Amino acid sequence: MTLYASAPSNIALVKYWGKRNTQHNLPLTSSFSVTLETMRTWVAISPLSDGPDRWALYGNPKKAMRVLTEARAFTHNSQPLAISVHNDFPSGAGLASSASSMAALAFALDIALNDGNTPLSEVARWARLGSGSAVRSLYPGFVLWEAGQDPEGRDCIAQSRFHASQLPLDLIACVVDDRTKPIGSTEAMERCRDTSPSYAQFHARNADDLRRALHALQTQNLEALGQVSEENCLAMHAVMHQAQPPIDYFQDGTHAAIATVRALRQQGLPCFFTIDAGPNVKVLCPPAYTPALRKALEHTAGVTRLLFDRVSDSAARQEPTWPAHLPAHPPSNTISPQQTALLSSTTSFPPTGAA
Ligand code: DP6
Repeated sequence: MTLYASAPSNIALVKYWGKRNTQHNLPLTSSFSVTLETMRTWVAISPLSDGPDRWALYGNPKKAMRVLTEARAFTHNSQPLAISVHNDFPSGAGLASSASSMAALAFALDIALNDGNTPLSEVARWARLGSGSAVRSLYPGFVLWEAGQDPEGRDCIAQSRFHASQLPLDLIACVVDDRTKPIGSTEAMERCRDTSPSYAQFHARNADDLRRALHALQTQNLEALGQVSEENCLAMHAVMHQAQPPIDYFQDGTHAAIATVRALRQQGLPCFFTIDAGPNVKVLCPPAYTPALRKALEHTAGVTRLLFDRVSDSAARQEPTWPAHLPAHPPSNTISPQQTALLSSTTSFPPTGAA
């Protein structure tokens, strides 16, 4: 029996950019995000009669192996599996594909190995060990992921704080460059921790930014939410710009898209931007303004295409079928866990473009 599951990407408005514990992958400060709807990672899993596992994985093999190892340890189930993990949007370009892929994988493994009986907080732990931000893709709407204080992360939990309907928002992703980024978030965070003079300052503002974001949601104040989101995002990128050597994900198209958003706002169109570890700019606005924004953003120099999504209550879920446009499951390639563990943390397997 093959099972299918999917999880959406999520975009942080108050960012996670640093860890208090790398072994358990615990964040230094809490973060606040929106869960999307259509930018999803799909996972198919079927049992094999014997090992090794078979994988088709767009993403980071080391992270995926960590999730699988934790799931097997918790469920005491070592059933060999054929696993396909496919994004239906660009991987590794700051569109939070590691969040959706690790969330979808953890969610699907619970069904495959434990009939879906694992508490969501434990599934979230498996996802977190793959990628911290993945925890948030397991929850709907506007999500708070609390850093907690427990050394092993028992109080590092996420929860949905508002339904998507609290403040309906569309998201327009301005794709400036959809190639895999030169430096991944995990390594970039470490460099910032070790070398950036504004790293501590960024974390010092976290509590106030969270308070402002939650209050903006409570009062359905888009302008206030936009203001804190943009400030927090630019503060995170300032930390990176001051690292040694500096990390600068911005490209010309990134700056141009930011300028377009600011100009549109001056003209009275409610919208704001946020940018993660990549050059692509995510613009959020009330749905009624999407057509007008679309026109302006698609004519922005350096923006190669737009992707559309919305804040949604459809978090990780089981799916009845597998999308026809994705590569067939089960995969024909065979790779053992040992081989997988040897692959570098930046390698995609199979390489992008291969089925
Ligand atoms: C800029 O979750 O990818 O998107 O836990 O090391 O895998 P690891 O990091 P990851 O970092 C996401 C960073 C961010 C901000 C955010 O999503 O909060």
